[in-house]
Amino acid sequence: MKIGIIGAGNIGGNLTRRLTSLGHDVSVANSRGPQTLTELAEETGATAVRVEDAARGAEIVVVTVPVKAVPNLPSGLLDGAAEGVAVVDTGNYYPKQRDGRIDAIEDEGLTESRWTERQIGHAVIKAFNGTFAQDLLDRARPEGSTDRMALPVAGDDQAAKRKVMALIGEMGFDTVDAGGLDDSWRQQPGTPVYGLRADSKGVTEALAAAAPERGPEFRG
Ligand SMILES: NC(=O)c1ccc[n+]([C@@H]2O[C@H](COP(=O)([O-])OP(=O)(O)OC[C@H]3O[C@@H](n4cnc5c(N)ncnc54)[C@H](OP(=O)(O)O)[C@@H]3O)[C@@H](O)[C@H]2O)c1
Repeated sequence: MKIGIIGAGNIGGNLTRRLTSLGHDVSVANSRGPQTLTELAEETGATAVRVEDAARGAEIVVVTVPVKAVPNLPSGLLDGAAEGVAVVDTGNYYPKQRDGRIDAIEDEGLTESRWTERQIGHAVIKAFNGTFAQDLLDRARPEGSTDRMALPVAGDDQAAKRKVMALIGEMGFDTVDAGGLDDSWRQQPGTPVYGLRADSKGVTEALAAAAPERGPEFRG
């Protein structure tokens, strides 16, 4: 599958590694330009591209940049993507440590991914946001393994969600449907499922145990 990855840091880099190892055709971009990604490209066989070109022909595009950088992404980010492209958002809002205060998230009560969706102008599927980057490489397991982890996946576009869940399954993880994007507060930072290494049952229980209030450490 042709996959575009926007952001080549902890998560974007390891998604590039894992997805190329499965034989996918990955294009990867960062903020500084493809000439700064030659090492990752050589290591993985991915194609380093400009952000503007990352989505070209892609069936899945992953946006994995700091939340504060989302408004800086170029308009037309998804131009040229395959019809029905599924856009994955891995983002987490860290107002104190990194992102600064985003009023629409805190005052309007938008989920973090709904805010991102509005910024980029395309529906998103929230996935990988609570997964440690290293786990993408170290904790992948064949289907049916007793220690296979499950990841929550939220989003409104059912076809896109199915596509992303299938890809995560192929990557070595079970998935739990965490509902629509307005339910995705259940997997944001500070919730029981965030960073949890558990199977589908554990993830389902953790999602159900979440409280909607944003804790003080996650307010700007
Ligand atoms: N680290 C984790 O384990 C983890 C786990 C789950 C979710 N997340 C979330 O996923 C997101 C990415 O996290 P990360 O740890 O991978 O971040 P990171 O290591 O800081 O990497 C961020 C990447 O985004 C790129 N970037 C920044 N602004 C950009 C722009 N305007 N256009 C294109 N690329 C841009 C950076 O490019 P340059 O290299 O050129 O600066 C860098 O490659 C965050 O929201 C984070 O909270 C992280």
